[in-house]
Amino acid sequence: MKRVVVTGGAGFIGSAVVRLLAGEPDVSVLNLDSLTYAGNLESLRAVSNQPNYRFARTDIVDRAAVDGIFASFQPTHIMHLAAESHVDRSITGAAAFVQTNVIGTFTLLEAARAYWSALPAGERAAFRFLHVSTDEVYGSLGSDGFFKETTPYDPSSPYSASKAASDHLANAWMRTYGLPVVISNCSNNYGPFHFPEKLIPLVILNALDGKALPVYGDGSNIRDWLYVEDHARALWTVVQGGRLGEKYNVGGRNERTNLTVVQTICDVLDDLVPAAKPRRDLITFVTDRPGHDHRYAIDATKLEDELGWRAQETFESGIRRTVRWYLDNAWWWQPLRDKVYTGERLGLDKSVPLAPTAAGA
Ligand SMILES: NC(=O)c1ccc[n+]([C@@H]2O[C@H](COP(=O)([O-])OP(=O)(O)OC[C@H]3O[C@@H](n4cnc5c(N)ncnc54)[C@H](O)[C@@H]3O)[C@@H](O)[C@H]2O)c1
Repeated sequence: MKRVVVTGGAGFIGSAVVRLLAGEPDVSVLNLDSLTYAGNLESLRAVSNQPNYRFARTDIVDRAAVDGIFASFQPTHIMHLAAESHVDRSITGAAAFVQTNVIGTFTLLEAARAYWSALPAGERAAFRFLHVSTDEVYGSLGSDGFFKETTPYDPSSPYSASKAASDHLANAWMRTYGLPVVISNCSNNYGPFHFPEKLIPLVILNALDGKALPVYGDGSNIRDWLYVEDHARALWTVVQGGRLGEKYNVGGRNERTNLTVVQTICDVLDDLVPAAKPRRDLITFVTDRPGHDHRYAIDATKLEDELGWRAQETFESGIRRTVRWYLDNAWWWQPLRDKVYTGERLGLDKSVPLAPTAAGA
């Protein structure tokens, strides 16, 4: 039996991981999450009554609480996803990002080290700690090239800087203490249960409401999109089979400009729910994000060749599934739109002049 602690299991990607693991016959999963604005147990409705799932409302910076969970649950694997994750929020409120992403990861690594050191030899050898990170730690690409596992770190935002710091901590706990750590760096995710502050769900829901569709700068910034369930499978693959101390990039070779993403959503919605006017008419260009990285693109060859993982969704198939999911699941997103985040612009720090590259040049 594998006993897996998933931190951040009530979040977007964490809940996809928990739903995946709860369907595995030989896995028991504990969701460790403090339920910030981004955590939502409704995302786990489908599995919450299963005997192999349990939830602990816990902050990862609370060492005593984390120690207690490890002592009672006796994990064989830890998959660490808990984080503050929204770049725009990091621009106007970086403190929470340092607290959770840096101090929280440090606390979790120390708790894991204490727990792991006391295990019998066989269990100690089998134990794994997966630190889940982002491709944003690599900074921005020009018009060609890809992020490889060897690309030097060059983070731009408070979010990506805090994730880079936590990656270095995880790596150091492997090298210094021998804690069996593996790290993954993934590109932008999209799919069901995505909090509606992020580009894709925001655009789907605004377009359904006939509201403006904000595109930062001139829309030429490029992201490499991965369907969230492909990411969840990748993480489960890496924590089980990844080589210790190694990093694995995760991506699906789906580069799109932000403008193309928004136009594609408009076209899919026009097809599924025709409106009086084409929804592309709602596209509105707005002031760019400060420090907006121009392009991200992942080379996932190492993960594909070593561990046999492949993305199953293309951007076109995944975005259609995603739009359909939002059409069918207003019960999930409507309360968030009404009460938690109503769609206002985030991340404009007026004290910061726009960087010369910020218009997407
Ligand atoms: N979303 C992406 O496109 C993307 C891409 C690559 C990597 N990642 C990484 O994947 C992970 C998950 O991202 P996501 O998009 O699901 O994030 P999310 O914001 O949707 O969810 C984060 C979860 O962590 C919980 N959390 C926050 N602070 C906590 C704390 N101090 N203690 C315990 N729980 C806490 C929240 O309640 C929430 O449930 C993050 O580490 C992120 O950096 C995200």
